[in-house]
Amino acid sequence: MCGIIGYVGSRPAEEILLSGLRKLEYRGYDSAGLSLIGDGEIRSVRAVGNLDRLEAALAGDAAGATATATLARPATIGIGHTRWATHGRVSEANAHPHYDSANRVHVVVNGIVENYMALRERLVSEGASFSSETDAEVIAHLIASAYRDDLAGTVARVLTELDGYFAFVAMTLDEPDVLVGARRECPLVVGRGADESFIASAVPAFLAHTRSVQLVENGEIVVLRAGEVEIRDGAGETMLREIVEVDWDEETAEKGGYETFMLKEIHEQADAVAETISDRTARGDGVDLADPLCFDEALLDGVQRVVFVACGTAYHAGLMGRYAIEDWAGLPVEVDVASEYRYRNPIVGPGDLVVGISQSGETADTLGAMRVARERGARVIALTNVMGSQATRECDGVLYTRAGLEIGVAATKTFVAQLALVYLLALRLAALRGSLSAARIGELVAAMRQLPQLIDELLDGLDARVDAIAEWCWQADFFLYIGRHAGVPIALEGALKLKEISYVSTDAYAAGEMKHGPIAMLDERTPVVAVATSSPVLAKVINNIDEVRARGAKVIAITTAGDDTVAPHVEDTIAVPATEPMLEPLLAVIPLQLLAYRIAMRRALNPDQPRNLAKTVTVE
Ligand code: AGP
Repeated sequence: MCGIIGYVGSRPAEEILLSGLRKLEYRGYDSAGLSLIGDGEIRSVRAVGNLDRLEAALAGDAAGATATATLARPATIGIGHTRWATHGRVSEANAHPHYDSANRVHVVVNGIVENYMALRERLVSEGASFSSETDAEVIAHLIASAYRDDLAGTVARVLTELDGYFAFVAMTLDEPDVLVGARRECPLVVGRGADESFIASAVPAFLAHTRSVQLVENGEIVVLRAGEVEIRDGAGETMLREIVEVDWDEETAEKGGYETFMLKEIHEQADAVAETISDRTARGDGVDLADPLCFDEALLDGVQRVVFVACGTAYHAGLMGRYAIEDWAGLPVEVDVASEYRYRNPIVGPGDLVVGISQSGETADTLGAMRVARERGARVIALTNVMGSQATRECDGVLYTRAGLEIGVAATKTFVAQLALVYLLALRLAALRGSLSAARIGELVAAMRQLPQLIDELLDGLDARVDAIAEWCWQADFFLYIGRHAGVPIALEGALKLKEISYVSTDAYAAGEMKHGPIAMLDERTPVVAVATSSPVLAKVINNIDEVRARGAKVIAITTAGDDTVAPHVEDTIAVPATEPMLEPLLAVIPLQLLAYRIAMRRALNPDQPRNLAKTVTVE
């Protein structure tokens, strides 16, 4: 996930920006840059790779990096950025800061400008000359084209033209003592010093200099001068904002105040989904997966069958893909764990679309399975979170999830982003095949665009609610997870999460399979977690719940808000907001992640680093 830092004060900005960027390294990045204003000139330096390369570029001795204008005196105002590529490949040209054609306005941007293509076309027709492939660059050109003599006012006007989820900080040579930040969904925080001001995407960036913090709310604009900060709402009214003194140490600050990275990442899931779906669902009522750099929709023409290959959590995302694609697109779907697929003799070839799902893009078995399919003539696409990863080099097209770097070993936000993307793939296939009407696709797209908001609603107070459940079940030594239909992948994923981070034995089954074996495991000591959200087979799930309760087991059900049919049959319920039945499982996994998390914490285990597990499994 990209990182932003801005500084205006009286000390040399370069050092402060660089050290701030170092504090944001934990967020993950592939390139970095900064711009400084001094003596009527802008110096901008960008480099691919890590911050050592940026430092070398600043010193003037890095190949593949650019540095403009050398300033006579050290600048005391500037902006910096670490980039995690989403739109546009990893390259120096795509690294931030971005600037307008006259090189007067520089910006650093996080998130996604959904309508950037239309804006770019308009700006080009007006004479703007673009130097990157990014969506972010449009902001610099828009500001430059609307600018008269007031950067803050210009940013306010430009904001009304932008669709999407983003945060940015801008500066211009014409007002060399001002930084202006703005945010929509993506975070921005302000740091207050005596005669200096900071702005960043996260507190660690300036914690070494000040602990006095102001939060910038959604839709607000912030104007920073040395030691002066004004926060305005979208209408230009000045907002009073409390200055909070944070007592976080550096590690807590990196975790955004959360006790672990896993908990932080669970709370980043609305963002992960928003970034993954936003621009792909922004044009009309349909889904557009095309990306001139990595995905040609012609790959989806004439597909006869879809095959998902993946491991672990990513495999569960593939299972969800099966329900969605069969239901919406009417195509046959096969899903296999990659380590099996690659050593079977899979019947695969032209006409098949093979999708390797891997958050890291480096999982050896998934790569192996993709290679087998490709050798046999199938079209192979990678669905991954990491730009430039091996999977992206061994396929015919790439669909990126945009969850940002995931540090916790247990996948959480990358999983919901994978689910969101397989839903989009299913909808796009449905549109191409005409298996759903445009109106129905429009309804489903609208429901998908609601998901980030529903995730936020769901997370509000959820941790405490889940912990109250963990209190009565955390000592159990075996949990059974059940679900039916699209609840099955979620039951499997919930069970995997608990196993991974709590070392508690779990089993997960399609609930209809229970009486064919696993029911023998149940007694009054067994917690059973049932995914019982809306579905065409909810009544059958309730029957299965009754069967397990008849054996004395205690049932925790994930239900749909407003449904009152499940509660009388179970010990405890956690309701997720109602939406399209196929999408509710994406919400249902969140309480299960938290249940695993709270049980691990009660067992005094570190969920970020579970024993025996690696984040990326590059060996088979
Ligand atoms: C998920 O919590 C696990 N850490 C693991 O199952 C993981 O999903 C699997 O190793 C696949 O990784 P990938 O998505 O990077 O390919």
